[in-house]
Amino acid sequence: MSEAFDAVEIIGAKRDKKELSDPQIDWIINAYTKGVVADEQMSALLMAILLNGMNSREISRWTDAMIASGERMEWSMLDRKTVDKHSTGGVGDKITLPLAPLVAACGGAVPQLSGRGLGHTGGTLDKLESIPGWRASLTNAEMLEVLKSCGAVICAAGAGLAPADKKLYALRDVTGTVQAIPLIASSIMSKKIAEGTSALVLDVKTGSGAFMSDPKKASELARVMVDLGTRAGVKTRALVTAMDVPLGLTAGNALEVRETIEVLAGGGPSDVVELTLVLAREMLDAAGIKPLMDPADALKNGAAMDSWKAMIRAQGGDVDAKLPVAKENISIVADKDGTLSSMDAMSVGIAAWRLGAGRSKQGEKVSFGAGIEIHAKPGAQVKKGDLIYTLHADESDRFARAESALENSFVISQDGSVADRLPLIIEKIEG
Ligand code: URA
Repeated sequence: MSEAFDAVEIIGAKRDKKELSDPQIDWIINAYTKGVVADEQMSALLMAILLNGMNSREISRWTDAMIASGERMEWSMLDRKTVDKHSTGGVGDKITLPLAPLVAACGGAVPQLSGRGLGHTGGTLDKLESIPGWRASLTNAEMLEVLKSCGAVICAAGAGLAPADKKLYALRDVTGTVQAIPLIASSIMSKKIAEGTSALVLDVKTGSGAFMSDPKKASELARVMVDLGTRAGVKTRALVTAMDVPLGLTAGNALEVRETIEVLAGGGPSDVVELTLVLAREMLDAAGIKPLMDPADALKNGAAMDSWKAMIRAQGGDVDAKLPVAKENISIVADKDGTLSSMDAMSVGIAAWRLGAGRSKQGEKVSFGAGIEIHAKPGAQVKKGDLIYTLHADESDRFARAESALENSFVISQDGSVADRLPLIIEKIEG
């Protein structure tokens, strides 16, 4: 590669709050992906971007350069329209699991490339891997096969998709530069655009358990991502949704698969069902698909469950096998009578992670059975001694640190009051 630019000059320009030109951005992403620019130089640039930002032209070009670092998939051979969903991640956020087969049952094709959990938020692939036999890695040809036969596929992104993001994400993780809107937006959207979906619905989480705890920042992130998708020809819209309280009644891999199956069987917690239905309708509408049936009917009549079973089996999963259960469990109970006033998503996420449901280093094994069952949500009446949580872990020495994360995670009021909560759907942003 010819040395058209100098990394130090580019770092200096962003440090001094100058705009980077298109050729500078193309060069630095390409040179970093190829190992010409060193990690320490890219770290300095990422920190300068975190501190001084990028304008919309720079973000757009940065995203395009990350897409150009790898392959771009396309699905024009399918006779169904493609549509995907991406969540910025939260506690108990298992929505992708029932949503992908539900949208498939209603007539969409969902090519979902998912990730693993890092930190307090769970990863879709870790959850699905708790199903005995299920395989996350597929070739592009296998992905197409599953998509054709089942209408939905959830698998790991191959090494060829946005390799620049793989390097940058790992570097951001260890340099305190994850939380920058231009970097989050370009990271997510480069993968979603390269994945080749023609429509996309983003679920941007906000509240204590989300990346963006401030709803204004979440809204800004959503707007930047919707603009990136729209510019790239993907029909993109975003919902900003609540993550102040955990979603549903479980956090942890196999526990969340169990809850998914309840939803697909027509039951399940009301917040999980509501968000799944809202997102399914948005996805079908964004893609311009006339639904074969209403998503609520597809949950009740078994059509979504049939799509789920087909999708899991197509990737080697045994839908009849027993899900893993952790070896040990303990209970946390109410210490007085009253109304459960609040429950903090971040505390529950950290506790589930400490129980072994998540990993603290890339590559670490997760415990499939570990996690938390939630027995009461805000608004519920509880009596002293009633179960609030059941904690599951494979090693009993994990309980003390999880219990300490949960110490102030819920409040019981004796005057019947309930703390203010974010509405489940806060805002919708369209392209
Ligand atoms: N998910 C991603 O893929 N990238 C980010 O930067 C944040 C969440």
